[in-house]
Amino acid sequence: MGVSAVRRADLDHSMTNLVAETRWVEQLRQGLQPSAADLRQHLLTVHQSRAGFTEACAARCRDSHGRTSYEWLADAVERDGHRRVLDLACGSGPLLALLAGRHGAALELSGIDMSKAELGLAAARVPNGLATLHCALAQDMPFFDDGALDVVLCHWALTLMDPVEPVLREVRRVLRAGGRFAAIIDGPMEMAPRYQTANALIYDAVQRSVPHYGEIDMGDPRVRTADALLALAGAVFGRNAVSIEPNIVSLTGDPADVAREAAGFFYASFVLPDDERAVMLAELAAALTDSDGTARFDMPINRLVVDL
Ligand SMILES: C[S@@+](CC[C@H](N)C(=O)[O-])C[C@H]1O[C@@H](n2cnc3c(N)ncnc32)[C@H](O)[C@@H]1O
Repeated sequence: MGVSAVRRADLDHSMTNLVAETRWVEQLRQGLQPSAADLRQHLLTVHQSRAGFTEACAARCRDSHGRTSYEWLADAVERDGHRRVLDLACGSGPLLALLAGRHGAALELSGIDMSKAELGLAAARVPNGLATLHCALAQDMPFFDDGALDVVLCHWALTLMDPVEPVLREVRRVLRAGGRFAAIIDGPMEMAPRYQTANALIYDAVQRSVPHYGEIDMGDPRVRTADALLALAGAVFGRNAVSIEPNIVSLTGDPADVAREAAGFFYASFVLPDDERAVMLAELAAALTDSDGTARFDMPINRLVVDL
């Protein structure tokens, strides 16, 4: 009895979805505005149990030129004049690895992220000595002097940062005059009907257990539309320094694989318990499948470039 009770308790614990139980989700459940600290703790919980999930999705999606969004962002680094490059919120390090592969020791690479689990993966893959990693918040990077960097890159993370204005000010501080900031962020949803389909299906599923999910965005909503972002970034860097370019990256293949990888783009999908997630994935696979039996998912993205 003692042993089986312990095993049952262990099982119950292992089946608990910690992501669905964070204070951030609890606040949404009650229709309350979560704090910035609640969001950070929620993100850390997601990334602790699923480190590397972003690249599992993003590294398979390509634009009409065959580029991943990591490659498109890495194109912002130029061989001449760019040496000291920071990957802001580097996660598991795919962009750092790509830059190290392209430029080798010609670049002095740094990465920062607040998730130790993600940084552990990054440290294991970037060749020793080619990148310096910091576990820190993007809002405060005291380890960089003013004007210490030529380029700051940020792939799929600016939308999560709350507050975001201190991040932009910190980026401006650490960049030298003539330096560059480039970021991949959400693009216009209307450019990609399949994204809208996936978004609606996933949020419908999540709202069955967390009714207010989606009413309050993660991070600062101004980062999610080009006009608002132009105004926000323009106020920090100067309007003439800022440009935004839209693109679409797509993923094709076996319906179950495409559905799983597409769902990985949506933090909302991790709130679902396993059984509801399985139902949602089956519905998503069906919705993304074409008459030839293969599935496709399209992801609208924007590339923000700031030239100081
Ligand atoms: C969607 S993942 C992107 C990771 C990586 N850039 C990529 O695209 O593969 C977002 C990352 O942002 C990090 N992050 C979110 N807010 C942050 C903050 N305020 N400071 C530092 N890291 C943050 C998370 O820990 C996570 O690793």
